[in-house]
Amino acid sequence: MTLEGKVALVTGSSQGIGQGIVLKLAQAGADVVINYRSHPEGAEETLEKVQAIGGKCYLAECPHSRGRTIQADLGNLEMVRELISESIAHFGKLDILVNNAGIEKHAPFWEVTEADYDTVLNVNLKGVFFATQAFVQHLVATQRPGKIINISSVHEDLPFPNFAAYCVSKGGMKMLTRNLAVELGPLGITINNVAPGAIETPINTKLLNDPDKLNALLNNIPLARLGQPQDVASLVAFLASSEADYITGSTFVVDGGLLWNYQEQ
Ligand code: BGC
Repeated sequence: MTLEGKVALVTGSSQGIGQGIVLKLAQAGADVVINYRSHPEGAEETLEKVQAIGGKCYLAECPHSRGRTIQADLGNLEMVRELISESIAHFGKLDILVNNAGIEKHAPFWEVTEADYDTVLNVNLKGVFFATQAFVQHLVATQRPGKIINISSVHEDLPFPNFAAYCVSKGGMKMLTRNLAVELGPLGITINNVAPGAIETPINTKLLNDPDKLNALLNNIPLARLGQPQDVASLVAFLASSEADYITGSTFVVDGGLLWNYQEQ
């Protein structure tokens, strides 16, 4: 499996799953755009790791770096559009978009504020919608195929009490993927969701520091461990490759069996 000659943008890739995906795509040969909102140091660290992987940039005129970092808040439409156009301006094209950036906020449903609802939905769904739109406009204008991979969640299906806005955003992402599989298929553009379960990343910092909650969760995971970013990244690299050309409109769960585990107490 190779991504040689391909250019990929991974949103939210200064840490966690996004960082793992960038490294995997770079190992497979892709040039990468590393996007961050508030962790430039994480983005730089990711870029250094990409450079350590070696290989030549797909562009003859930038032989030193196969990656670049771009700051953008996915909750801000203007920044989303600039992120896509800057990525294209730097590498001359984009072949792969990984919509990874996502946030969640804990609150009982009856206490969710409009501001928190907007923050979650703007990043997790509106940002994805319009980043994908700008990417597709580029593919249409250049008459090329492309791959879209959304990092969704087991919570596109599974209820998650106290995270209603997050679940709404991931459920929306699931329908966006189904809709676009049909609408973009004739253009040679595929779109799929990868749905992680509990992965050891900064989004789960609170949980990781609460032994009772962590143990309760581990008891619900048949494979008895949290996932690591690379568990998710391998699947993303496959879906981004030509080996997955006939796959579109699907969700692939990476959760150690969490989703289907029901135990009578
Ligand atoms: C959430 C995590 C949660 C996991 C399993 C993910 O989508 O971001 O906070 O631990 O699902 O419930």
